[in-house]
Amino acid sequence: MLERGSHLLTDKVVVVTGGAGVLGRQFCTAIVKIGGVAIVADRDVEAATRAAAEMNKSRLGRAEAASLDIINPQSVGALIDGLKKKHGRIDAVVNNAYPRNRNYGRKLEDVTYEDFCDNVGQHLGGYFLVAQQFGLFFRDHGGGNIVNLSSIYGTIVPRFEIYAGTPMTMPVEYAAIKSAVVQLTRYFAQYFKGAGLRVHSLSPGGILADQPAGFLAAYNGHCASKGMLSPNDLVGALLFLLSDQSQFMTGQNLIVDDGFSL
Ligand SMILES: NC(=O)c1ccc[n+]([C@@H]2O[C@H](COP(=O)([O-])OP(=O)(O)OC[C@H]3O[C@@H](n4cnc5c(N)ncnc54)[C@H](O)[C@@H]3O)[C@@H](O)[C@H]2O)c1
Repeated sequence: MLERGSHLLTDKVVVVTGGAGVLGRQFCTAIVKIGGVAIVADRDVEAATRAAAEMNKSRLGRAEAASLDIINPQSVGALIDGLKKKHGRIDAVVNNAYPRNRNYGRKLEDVTYEDFCDNVGQHLGGYFLVAQQFGLFFRDHGGGNIVNLSSIYGTIVPRFEIYAGTPMTMPVEYAAIKSAVVQLTRYFAQYFKGAGLRVHSLSPGGILADQPAGFLAAYNGHCASKGMLSPNDLVGALLFLLSDQSQFMTGQNLIVDDGFSL
C-alpha cells in the first residue's frame, strides 16, 4: 500500500542512460522529484550536465551528470565502478539511450546492409551491454532493477498508411531492435531469477514532437483518448516498474500508448 508521505525511490540511485534526451530528462526529473538520486548518464556529457543542473534547482532528491557511451564496455564499467565508490550502491538502471547513425530512418529500399547492422549493433548491442554489466553488478550486490525502453513497434507491425504524405516512416531497424529488446528483457528476467533482480521493458507509443497534422490525425484515430503522448505521460509506468509497487513482477512488457496498438 502507498503510505502518506512515502517516497518510493527515496535515496535510491537510479541510472538513466540517454538521460539528457527527450524521455531521459523527464524520467530523471521524476526520479529526483520523489527523492531519488538520478544519474543522468549520456554520451553528450555537456547536455547531461545542463539537464542535471536544471533538475537540481528545486527538488527533494538530486541529479548527477555522468559520461557514458553504452557501446563501450570500458565506459559502462567505469560508470558502475565510479557510482559504487561514490554512493556505495546502485539500485536501478533505465536502458533508455537512443544511438543511431546518420543514415538511420531511411525507407526499407534504401537501408544498406552496413547501416542495418550498425544501427542494430549500436542500439540492441548497447542495451545488451548495459543490462549485462548492471545485471551482474546487481546479482553480486544484493539485487536491483532494470527497465529497458522498447516501443509499441517491438510488439505490433507498423500501420504504414499513417505515414502517407509525410517524409516519416517506421524504420525497419527499429522493428528488429525493439522486438529483440522485449525478448532480451524476458531472457534476463529468467536468467536472473532468484538473484534479487527484476527486469522489465517499457513500450511507449508515439511521443508528440511537431509531427505533421495529417499524421497526428491518422495516428490519434487509433487511440482511446489523448492520442500521441507527452514524455511526462510515461513517468507513472516507469516509477511503478522501478518501485516496490511492482515487487512481484518481472519479465513483463508494459505498453503505454493510449490504446494505439490494440
Ligand atoms: N520519442 C519517442 O517517440 C519514443 C517512442 C517510443 C520509444 N522511445 C524510446 O525511448 C528511448 C529514448 O528516446 P528519446 O526519444 O528520448 O531519444 P533522444 O534522441 O531524445 O535521446 C537519446 C539520448 O541518448 C543519448 N545517446 C545516444 N547514443 C548514446 C550512447 N552510445 N551512449 C550513451 N548515450 C547515448 C543521446 O545523446 C541523447 O541524449 C529510446 O529507446 C527510444 O527508442 C522513444
